[in-house]
Amino acid sequence: EQIMKGSYPHFMLKEIYEQPESLLQTMRGRVLINSQSENKTNALQIKSDVHLGGISQRLSDFKRSSRIIFVACGTSFHSCIAARQVMEELTELPVTIELASDFIDRRTPLFRSDVCVFVSQSGETADTLEALRYAKKCQALTVGVVNVVGSSIARITDCGVHLNAGAEIGVASTKAYTSQIITIVIFALQLSLDSRSKQVRRKEIHDALLALPALVKKTLTDLDEHMKAIAQRLRDNTSILLFGRGYQYATCLEGALKIKELSYIHTEGIHAGELKHGPLALIDENMPVILFASQDACANKVQNALHQLMARGGISNMIIIGTEGDSNLEAFRDKAQLVLVPQTVDCLQCVLSIIPMQLLSYHLTVARGLNVDQPRSLAKSVTVE
Ligand code: AGP
Repeated sequence: EQIMKGSYPHFMLKEIYEQPESLLQTMRGRVLINSQSENKTNALQIKSDVHLGGISQRLSDFKRSSRIIFVACGTSFHSCIAARQVMEELTELPVTIELASDFIDRRTPLFRSDVCVFVSQSGETADTLEALRYAKKCQALTVGVVNVVGSSIARITDCGVHLNAGAEIGVASTKAYTSQIITIVIFALQLSLDSRSKQVRRKEIHDALLALPALVKKTLTDLDEHMKAIAQRLRDNTSILLFGRGYQYATCLEGALKIKELSYIHTEGIHAGELKHGPLALIDENMPVILFASQDACANKVQNALHQLMARGGISNMIIIGTEGDSNLEAFRDKAQLVLVPQTVDCLQCVLSIIPMQLLSYHLTVARGLNVDQPRSLAKSVTVE
């Protein structure tokens, strides 16, 4: 086992640090370089800038579909939330996301024109598998986004994409999450390949994908010690709240799941738009709060949330996960803990902002003397309902 861990004390830390490479592997042969060019009249020539071999044969079926439904559990469910907005934006189709267990409970109506995407690291999760069988019965087009080659979900779906993230052994999912997000983003790029009106936006995302592994590496190097120090401060707390919205809503949910499943500290990820609808009552000077503030379309609304939280005394325990160069955050430098990640395109920012949360959950767990790779009561793959 120690040989497999290499120089790392735990699989989880190894897998966190593998992300620059796992993201590269997810993109290899799929996100193509030098794919667009401009001719003399400055018109954009559309050439393939992405290629997902596993679904390219079914593109005409995707074109006929009227909606896309993502189905998953746990961290995989969060990756769908993270990538939903860009899928909606680029395909202009309604995109819904279903927890596999709830989807089965409701026996939600499905049509032959529906595309159902099943996202799973292991490819063996019982609820996701049952939801897949149901979708097949309804004759929807089924797509797998799976890490483990040859797994049940990979075999049963009509077509799909492997994450190629490499084996993930720690129970807490880390590198699979970031690879899931970028796989769904590439999927959205593939589905909008011939949409002229989307080319400028597509190129922005395409170029940001290529730059992402280096930014993940920088984030890891810059923030590991910082998150370790924050973990020391938070280790004896009984509760932590995470707030964000837009592309960062998924980061709140996923960050909270990482912290609770590993450190056993009660942690909740809450949409910042919900603050006044109840959660604000939880905020006092003792409640640790983590707020995700990115320079995107939600920035002003997040600033409002920040002021509301500060007014309730949350400031002394406030951690802000922001982006480098955001002048709006300078005013908070002395008042809150600022954790800055590099800036990238809005829809990929969540890949960078989850890194400090992965590190925080890891260091909290070590600081509390708990089992990092095998938290109590949990299994890597949930093969029973
Ligand atoms: C997250 O850290 C968990 N291990 C868990 O939520 C996991 O993502 C969930 O059980 C789904 O697993 P899957 O991706 O293998 O389907």
